[in-house]
Amino acid sequence: MEILRTVTELRQWSRDSRAKGHLIGLVPTMGALHAGHASLFRAAAASCGAVAVSIFVNPTQFGPNEDYARYPRTFDADCAPAAKEGANVIFAPAVEELYPAGASTFVDVEGLSDRLDGASRPGHFRGVATVVSKLFIAAEPDRAFFGQKDAAQVAVLRRMVGDLRMAVEIVVCPIVREADGLALSSRNMYLSASERARALTLSRAVRQAEALAAAGERRASALISAALQTFAAEPAIRVDYIELVNWATLEPVETAAPGTLFAVAAWVGATRLIDNAILP
Ligand code: PAF
Repeated sequence: MEILRTVTELRQWSRDSRAKGHLIGLVPTMGALHAGHASLFRAAAASCGAVAVSIFVNPTQFGPNEDYARYPRTFDADCAPAAKEGANVIFAPAVEELYPAGASTFVDVEGLSDRLDGASRPGHFRGVATVVSKLFIAAEPDRAFFGQKDAAQVAVLRRMVGDLRMAVEIVVCPIVREADGLALSSRNMYLSASERARALTLSRAVRQAEALAAAGERRASALISAALQTFAAEPAIRVDYIELVNWATLEPVETAAPGTLFAVAAWVGATRLIDNAILP
C-alpha cells in the first residue's frame, strides 16, 4: 500500500482513480487506529472503489493545555490494519504540508462550533473544519466516513459541507463498543485499569437514556437528571456536559424527538471521554 506525503500526490491519486471509474472514499483519522476506525475503512471499501485513509494529528484542533504533544502516534502499527481493512493509500502529510508557513485561512462553522465539545474546547471545531476542508480539497472524495461517536463533529462537518456546497457525501458509521459497552476511542489508552472501570459510567448513562426514551420518557430534564444520578455514583468522574440537542443544530431541546442526540462528556482522571446515542 502506498504512503502519500503531499497534497499533490493525493490529488493525483484521486484523479487517476476516478479516471479508472472508481468512486473515491476518504476516511480522515488522527491515527492510533482501533476497531472503530476499521469499521469506517470497511464501510468506505464497501461503497468506494478507491479508499484513502489520512493519518494526521491536527495541531489546530487542540487547545494550548490539551494533549497534542502526547497524543498517541503509532504510524508504523497503523499501516498494516488500514491496508487489511480496505485502505488503498495512506495520506500522512507533515504539519507544514497542510499548514504552510504563514497559513492564516481557517473554516469557522459559526454557532455550531461553540456547542457541546466546542463549548469546553474553544477553537476545537474550527481546527477540525479547517483540516477536513483541506483534506477534502486535496482528496476530492465522493464520500467521507466519520464515526457517530464524534456526533458534534459530524454536525459541524455536515453544516460545513452544506454551506460551502462541497460535492462530498458525509457517511456516518455507528459507534463501536467494547464488549462491556465502552465506546472505542484512541484516548482510552490513557486510562489506568481503575479509570477504565469508571469510564463505563458514560456508556451506562447513554444506555439508560436510550432505555428511558424507548419506554416513553421524552422530557430532557428527566433524561438528564437520570444521567446525573448515574454519574453521582462515581464521584471521581467530573461531568463536562450532559445534553439533549437537535443533531443538526446542536441546540438544546426540551422534548426528545426521534433523532434527538443525547450526548455526554466527562473527565475520567486527566482523560476527557465522550459518548452519545441518537434516541429512538
Ligand atoms: O475525528 C478525528 O479523528 C479528527 O477530528 C479528524 C476528523 C480526523 C480531523 O482531524
